[in-house]
Amino acid sequence: MNTLLLAAETTTKASEWVFGSGNIYNDILIVALIIVMIALLASALVVNKAMKSIINLTMPQLAAEQQKKKTKKIDWQAIWAKLLSLRPIEEEKDLEIDHEYDGIKELDNPVPAWFNALFYSTITFGVVYLLVYHVFGWGPNQDQEYQREMALAEKAKQEFLAQSANQIDESTIEVDATGALAASGKAIYMANCAVCHGNAGEGGIGPNLSDEYWLHGGDIKDVFTVVKYGVPEKGMVPWEQTLTPGQIAEVSNYIITLTGTNPPNPKEPQGEKVKPKANEESAEALAEPVAAENEA
Ligand code: HEC
Repeated sequence: MNTLLLAAETTTKASEWVFGSGNIYNDILIVALIIVMIALLASALVVNKAMKSIINLTMPQLAAEQQKKKTKKIDWQAIWAKLLSLRPIEEEKDLEIDHEYDGIKELDNPVPAWFNALFYSTITFGVVYLLVYHVFGWGPNQDQEYQREMALAEKAKQEFLAQSANQIDESTIEVDATGALAASGKAIYMANCAVCHGNAGEGGIGPNLSDEYWLHGGDIKDVFTVVKYGVPEKGMVPWEQTLTPGQIAEVSNYIITLTGTNPPNPKEPQGEKVKPKANEESAEALAEPVAAENEA
């Protein structure tokens, strides 16, 4: 993934340098570079020629030696003919096949060497590949490679999620609109908090968490702070050491959803009334019945 992105980045960077990129200065620069290169090449050739004529004039012996070396050069033409399996024109008679159509004859030319080399190397490659990956299993095949990469990606994803969940603190926590955190927070609440705050948050040793009255503030940031640091002198445990920041975020989200649920046997409200920030309108609607209930 990362390498893919990197590659994409470098290609866009490279294409910025392509001719006609819209930036006139880039184009001028490229043209200037090409002209300079041609000029350099031309002057190198001129210098080379001048040197040669100087050698010819001053050291005729050395010049003759160099000339001899030149004639002993590799015979490219022969190599080329061999590579293409070309036969000399004198052998044409031997190559002719016995049939002809309307005067058109066919030559039995050999298959070019380069083609044979390519052909046999693909067969060899195929056999080796089959043996290595499918018979002996020395290397992971495509399927296994895919599985392995997916497993690695899944691990990285879990690590990332765990890390980002645990980077939460009282200044960064927000109400999770999807409700996923609150859902997983319920189990944490039942295991750790229900003893003091009641199974439905109706209160007990600890205050009622389902009403709109809060001792320490009803914002999720306030809830997170109380859960994390506790109120030890009043009997509320600090959970910092027991729960991870991610778990505190989950249980805090769960507590926010308890507001207004009106469970049976509620403990009397404590602290100040706080309107839930997230949905002002429904809080407005709730205000009347709650007030009436309190009078009753
Ligand atoms: C041992 C009993 C006990 C346990 C267990 C406990 N609490 Fe509390 N909690 C209290 C008490 C007592 C208070 C009131 C503190 C005060 O008066 O300031 C309180 C206060 C709170 C408040 C602040 C309420 C307000 O009105 O501002 C929140 C939120 C809270 N607890 C959440 C939790 C959560 C979440 C857990 C579980 C992870 C938990 N508590 C476990 C006893 C407990």
